[in-house]
Amino acid sequence: MRKITFSIPEFYGWPTHLLVGGLLCLLLAGCRSDDQVEPLPAPDDPYAFVAPANFPPATYTFDNNPVSEAGFRLGKRLFFDPILSLDNTVSCNSCHNQSLAFADFPLHPVSIGVGGATGTRNAPQLVNLAFRREFFWDGGATHLDFVPLNAIENPVEMQEEIGRVIDKLNADPEYSGLFGEVFGQNRINTPQLLHALSQFMALMISNQSLYDQHLAGEYSLEPAEARGLALFETHCQGCHSGILLTDESYRNNGLDSSFTDVGRELITAYEGDRGKFMVPSLRNVALTSPYMHNARFNSLQAVLDHYSDGMVDSPSLDPTFRREDGRLGIPLSETEKSDLIAFLKTLTDRNFTNNPLFFKEQ
Ligand code: HEC
Ligand code: HEC
Repeated sequence: MRKITFSIPEFYGWPTHLLVGGLLCLLLAGCRSDDQVEPLPAPDDPYAFVAPANFPPATYTFDNNPVSEAGFRLGKRLFFDPILSLDNTVSCNSCHNQSLAFADFPLHPVSIGVGGATGTRNAPQLVNLAFRREFFWDGGATHLDFVPLNAIENPVEMQEEIGRVIDKLNADPEYSGLFGEVFGQNRINTPQLLHALSQFMALMISNQSLYDQHLAGEYSLEPAEARGLALFETHCQGCHSGILLTDESYRNNGLDSSFTDVGRELITAYEGDRGKFMVPSLRNVALTSPYMHNARFNSLQAVLDHYSDGMVDSPSLDPTFRREDGRLGIPLSETEKSDLIAFLKTLTDRNFTNNPLFFKEQ
């Protein structure tokens, strides 16, 4: 395990150049002198951000928002609090549930917001976000801090204005105290709200599935799981690649040719991107049905039937799916599909979905 620690005491809002050298120490009360060494977090400190050794470097900007216990707990409180929505009925947790790796319930193929408004996309699971470069099915957010703004202001999600959320939080003496403890300022502002939520989400690391135990040499795959892994490496890992099980590229995997949702084109305004969506991580995939951005399939069997026989042609269809014989998709027998499903089930991380760190507190 690689530890990432932060030695600069950071207060949001200070320009970065003020943070170097001893100048800040003169400005901030309680600052340590140069010869004091920042204590490393205890090895079992559940609030320390620890990047697993076999993960890529974290992309999240911890240098101006290091995770602290108080910040994480504040973020968690906000995540579960419907105060972030227009009529105080919808919280982040309404659509992102821990028992499903923070995906939405199968009964909500597309998300349900304030007043029962329905969205157009399936809520993804929330795992390993501190390692991601882009967010949303179309990559519409390029920093984790910006993601909640979209949920709060989205007309079919929380339907609230960020300014009103900040007013509600400032009117609540308990929140004023909690924010003050973390950020050291009197009035709550938007960056603080977003930073607290990111501290909570940054610790959502899923790396303890049977597959991870297999990689660490601590679990021997069952024969069907091992055959499934071999098929996965041949047919799937071109896109669902690496330890995060996504290469974060945008591809068209042949769901459709009419494109009611144009996907990546919404962001790039490039017609060649029509119908492309971000390759999702397949971690915990057995828990996150229904599948695809539009919740098209209810089971992994249906997903594999699609890959083998259901592909729809269109100009942006990924070339991977064009076979030499002119047919489309990945040829898979029924036995191969069941082996692949056995492998995909090894990606479930119960240590993550049952981790009390993320439980709602009173
Ligand atoms: C009404 C349901 C709903 C609520 C409430 C909601 N989300 Fe989401 N969330 C979604 C959907 C749907 C997406 C995918 C949107 C897209 O791709 O366009 C999403 C995407 C995300 C992502 C990006 C995940 C990824 O892999 O790209 C994060 C992070 C996230 N939400 C965090 C939050 C937080 C934090 C809150 C509370 C402030 C929240 N969500 C509230 C439905 C919801
Ligand atoms: C050419 C790239 C590519 C290949 C190869 C590929 N996929 Fe995908 N996969 C995608 C994309 C892109 C999506 C999301 C599509 C969307 O929602 O529009 C996806 C979605 C999925 C999903 C749905 C996940 C969710 O959370 O909704 C599953 C399951 C899946 N793929 C499994 C597989 C398996 C198993 C294989 C190999 C047999 C495979 N994929 C091969 C690109 C690929």
